[in-house]
Amino acid sequence: MNFKIALIRGDGIGPEIVNEAVGVINKVGEKFGHTFEYVDVLLGGCATDAVGKSYPDGTAELCRSCDAVLLGAVGGPKWGSDKPAEQRPETALLAIRKDLGLYANLRPAALRPALAEACPLKKETAEGGIDLLMVRELTGGIYFGKRDKYQTEDRGLEATDLMAYSEMEIERIGRRAFEMARLRRKKVSSVDKANVLETSRLWRSVMHRLAEEYSDVAYEDVLVDNCAMQLVRDPGQFDVVVTENMFGDILSDEASMITGSIGLLPSASMGDSAPALYEPIHGSAPDIAGQDKANPIATILSVAMMFRYSFRLAAEADAIEAAVDAVLAEGWRTADIAREGESAVGTRRMGELICSHI
Ligand code: IPM
Ligand code: MG
Repeated sequence: MNFKIALIRGDGIGPEIVNEAVGVINKVGEKFGHTFEYVDVLLGGCATDAVGKSYPDGTAELCRSCDAVLLGAVGGPKWGSDKPAEQRPETALLAIRKDLGLYANLRPAALRPALAEACPLKKETAEGGIDLLMVRELTGGIYFGKRDKYQTEDRGLEATDLMAYSEMEIERIGRRAFEMARLRRKKVSSVDKANVLETSRLWRSVMHRLAEEYSDVAYEDVLVDNCAMQLVRDPGQFDVVVTENMFGDILSDEASMITGSIGLLPSASMGDSAPALYEPIHGSAPDIAGQDKANPIATILSVAMMFRYSFRLAAEADAIEAAVDAVLAEGWRTADIAREGESAVGTRRMGELICSHI
């Protein structure tokens, strides 16, 4: 088969990790008889530098002409919050998610067998295993609500960010979560703050409706503060966790940390029709950019998700995941996951090692 992939290399370590991911894609192509065509798409701080805005005109169309989008990372101190919105990389990231309608963000957090010792939780807790899938709503809520900043008469400046959710938005992300749970251990934990927020009460009522419809899937409500606590107390209790945009942003960083390193976790963002977007959940790590130090595994595992979900090639996806586990089992580590005294390999070497196991 032939696939067309949009590559958003981005900023910081983005270009280095995307290079290694492309190496893996090509190796899979050789082994399994597929060909790939790549389209470079400029987005993020590098786009601001090149054309004056982080989300150049035509970006969404270019991505839509491809079968899938692979993104390294965007952002960096050079394009900070003091810059106008159209120059900030984060603006571009939110815009592409919205324009492609990528409302479902899947963030699997699994403790890889070879890395059990990297889990910062108690040994007994880690032994129970961690294998959860965070399903984060990605195109609604407070990230996209009306914002305002205005002068008050007696309290100085005031700012507001509106959090809004419609039944339609809640139902479609809820369905994703229940469908994913059916392919896994058949449990959905829906995270909200229904004791305080009206959006959460609506969220909960829609989820309850779905829970009745998907009666073969176990269901529970979890308050977001309690969920933050349960993730470090007993993460093994979770299978699919579904939540709104900002809660999901926060909880997915927490979930990644308990698996050892944020450098290991992939993600997929998908909608109903446009090509899905795959990216590591970590950022652009400007402090180590260009030094061959970054861990390419999260991006490589994102490529595995691309094969699984966008290309529907499960054997190829399995081969990539098995290659990563084999390399880790042999003891190879990048600096972020090496323990004291262990030697580390660089980005390129880690990429080559994974390729050689495919
Ligand atoms: C993420 C990131 C983004 C988000 C930032 C960079 C805007 O933290 O993908 O989790 O908050 O969604
Ligand atoms: Mg985040």
